Amino acid sequence: MKNNLTRRDFLGSAVGVAAGLATTPARAFPKTPPKSSSASGGADLAILGGSPVRTKPFPSWPVIEQNDEKGWMQVLMTGKWNRLDGHFTHQFETTWARLLGAKYGLATASGTTALLTSANALGIGPGDEVIVPPYTFVATVNIVLLQHALPVFVDTDPETFQIDARKVEAAITKRTRCIIPVHLGGSAADMDAILDLAKRHNLFVLEDACQAHLAEWRHKKVSTLGNLGCFSFQASKNLNSGEGGAILTNDHDLYEYCLSFHNQGRGKYNSGLSYVRNGANFRMTEFQGALLLQQLTRLEAQSRTRTENAAYLTKQLKEIPGISPARMYDGCTRNAYHLYMFHYDSAHFAGLPRSRFLKALEAEGVPASGGYTPLNKEPFLKEALGSRAFKAIYTQKELAEYEERNHCPENDKLCERAVWLEQTMFLGPRTDMDQIAEAIRKIQKHAGTLARSHA
Ligand SMILES: Cc1ncc(COP(=O)(O)O)c(C=O)c1O
Repeated sequence: MKNNLTRRDFLGSAVGVAAGLATTPARAFPKTPPKSSSASGGADLAILGGSPVRTKPFPSWPVIEQNDEKGWMQVLMTGKWNRLDGHFTHQFETTWARLLGAKYGLATASGTTALLTSANALGIGPGDEVIVPPYTFVATVNIVLLQHALPVFVDTDPETFQIDARKVEAAITKRTRCIIPVHLGGSAADMDAILDLAKRHNLFVLEDACQAHLAEWRHKKVSTLGNLGCFSFQASKNLNSGEGGAILTNDHDLYEYCLSFHNQGRGKYNSGLSYVRNGANFRMTEFQGALLLQQLTRLEAQSRTRTENAAYLTKQLKEIPGISPARMYDGCTRNAYHLYMFHYDSAHFAGLPRSRFLKALEAEGVPASGGYTPLNKEPFLKEALGSRAFKAIYTQKELAEYEERNHCPENDKLCERAVWLEQTMFLGPRTDMDQIAEAIRKIQKHAGTLARSHA
């Protein structure tokens, strides 16, 4: 079953990160018949009116097959759409936990609610500090602020794009309760160093694995190394049910707490109108659970394809001066490649700013983005810290000291140099990788001309 039109319409309007991908097929290519630049000996740049390297869209997302329809319809026809009545969501969470090697799994409405539930289970609250990376999706930080705790940003390791574990210790104070390493892009944060620090300072580790489905640290699945680990199944993710999330843990008490908290604080899983703690409704629907079970049948094969393509592309990009693919730590034995990230150094492209490089790349038929802005400088943080609740909890002096500490210079630089390619671009044939590299080489070759033009 295929329904590309509907999917594109939806993705185009709803998915920020995937928007570039969704709109690529509709982009107007030059009217001249396309010829490959290699065939024309380095044709003019597409942005200057030449032929693009690539005219075909990259693979679309999500992949929809008949088994998805079957799973979805099964739920529809049972009429048991809520997880308290059905069994699909429960089946998914136990399957996911078993696959990743965790004792307990709990499905949630989203990655954000998985993280928020976990933060509650760990007792993170007013007066606490939580160590977070500045290079992540805002949800990692939002959930700390929602608990009225302070997110303490530790600078990024520019080589890997991950939190710089060498700088974490200096950020620990007597108020620190938890470290949230984010396995950004599907690669792994330095878990040896983080787990060691957590042990020595008696801190919790909450892994944000929202982008890291099947990723590994020393052959163990990320999300199973800390106290709790969280996933997102939002539409752009490598495992997708539109929205959705999961928590994995090996700790029975934490699991019980999360189960109760995400179900309005009920003591027993289905205890009707009896409540033992504060909680919320963060339950996944049966539709999402059934869809995830079906999408899961493809995850391993898709992940392998991404890995092979990414390794092949890395070999080529490393040869291009001014392009440096994100390095993986030695302990990262498997990268989920939710994002393929690299540094762009304009000095090797005739001073062409990154924004113009991205436009030129897009014109060649290769959609890419500049990724995150520095989260520690975004206005939402100031707004939250200036709120009535924060002012009631923290003194002016404490908030001023927090401001003083909040600097991540390496991350600031990274945010200006980063380039991202999305996971779906890695699901096609190897020749797609050749074309990505060819487009970059072509831009480099003609960078001087482009820099002098007004395009
Ligand atoms: C690193 C990270 N953390 C948390 C989330 C939040 O997940 P969700 O969008 O499912 O709430 C995301 C999703 O984009 C993410 O990328």
